[in-house]
Amino acid sequence: MAPTCFFALYWLPLILAAAVRGADQEDGGCLASKKCGDLNISSPFWIIQGQADKPCGSLDFQVYCNNSTGVATLRSSTDSGFDIINISYGDRTLLVFDVHRLARLNSSTDCRIPVFNTFAKLPVAFTISPSNLNLVFYNCTKAPSAEQQRQLGLVETRCGNNAFARLGGRFDGPGDYDKYYLEGCSSNSTVFSPVLEPPDGKANASRYVELVRGGFLITWDLPVTSSGKFTLPASLKS
Ligand SMILES: *[C@@H]1O[C@H](CO)[C@@H](O)[C@H](O)[C@H]1NC(C)=O
Ligand SMILES: *[C@@H]1O[C@H](CO)[C@@H](O)[C@H](O)[C@H]1NC(C)=O
Ligand SMILES: *[C@@H]1O[C@H](CO)[C@@H](O)[C@H](O)[C@H]1NC(C)=O
Ligand SMILES: *[C@@H]1O[C@H](CO)[C@@H](O)[C@H](O)[C@H]1NC(C)=O
Ligand SMILES: *[C@@H]1O[C@H](CO)[C@@H](O)[C@H](O)[C@H]1NC(C)=O
Ligand SMILES: *[C@@H]1O[C@H](CO)[C@@H](O)[C@H](O)[C@H]1NC(C)=O
Ligand SMILES: *[C@@H]1O[C@H](CO)[C@@H](O)[C@H](O)[C@H]1NC(C)=O
Ligand SMILES: *[C@@H]1O[C@H](CO)[C@@H](O)[C@H](O)[C@H]1NC(C)=O
Repeated sequence: MAPTCFFALYWLPLILAAAVRGADQEDGGCLASKKCGDLNISSPFWIIQGQADKPCGSLDFQVYCNNSTGVATLRSSTDSGFDIINISYGDRTLLVFDVHRLARLNSSTDCRIPVFNTFAKLPVAFTISPSNLNLVFYNCTKAPSAEQQRQLGLVETRCGNNAFARLGGRFDGPGDYDKYYLEGCSSNSTVFSPVLEPPDGKANASRYVELVRGGFLITWDLPVTSSGKFTLPASLKS
């Protein structure tokens, strides 16, 4: 037996025991629940602080907690993530917003409308709730007529250059392309951004920056076993 292999076998039980102990200690390991700002981060979510941390669950549910700001971020398929505003474990629902999208829309020096659909950036475990409204961004080669702008409630964004925003109805996924097609604005530069309907019900495309900041609801599914039964998260099992 190679010395390294012997070494690993000898230490494995001790390492496992340490990992189990870590679960009910405050200093690292995989905690059942951890605070990040005002949020409780519990299973299936888990916090990663540094590159060297061991995974404590599915990568889709990995949360980065910025210690100095108390902001929890859910990773996305692009380099920046979704900041978590709130989590409801009972409803398996999160309220998140797209940090990068907001920064670009609200930038005074490098204003850009979104390029990627939100549904293409979310980890696969999450589904955009149909209770969101669809905020549609258009990057057009030619401005729609004033009449059409008025009829469809198109708002010219502060980015200028024929970039428009429009608030649609309930978010319905990629199928919305037909519904929101606009001549002169190709579908590859039409981007959907789900937004939560504001509590005052006065959703208005002219408030598009605020709406993006307000976030949108996503839901997650529990992992399903081969027998079709839900598996309980480890924290609920004992
Ligand atoms: C977070 O968890 C702690 C301990 O489990 C609990 O006392 C507290 O009420 C929770 N806070 C929220 C906002 O759920
Ligand atoms: C944490 O947030 C602060 C303030 O926004 C930022 O300057 C810092 O870079 C963040 N830390 C990391 C590791 O992203
Ligand atoms: C963040 O804070 C936690 C607990 O307060 C600590 O364990 C962790 O090392 C800190 N992470 C960084 C990157 O400072
Ligand atoms: C998070 O949701 C809970 C329950 O709906 C609510 O009481 C709380 O105020 C919310 N927190 C934030 C920061 O929105
Ligand atoms: C519109 O698309 C063009 C070409 O891709 C890009 O250069 C421009 O920055 C976009 N405009 C906005 C406001 O994002
Ligand atoms: C967008 O679509 C137009 C017309 O279909 C095409 O000419 C253009 O190359 C496409 N742009 C991108 C970035 O795919
Ligand atoms: C949206 O808000 C703008 C400015 O606040 C206002 O002029 C416009 O009438 C509003 N549109 C709707 C449909 O309420
Ligand atoms: C947008 O930028 C302005 C000015 O920089 C800032 O006051 C405002 O809070 C920003 N809006 C959001 C929703 O972040």
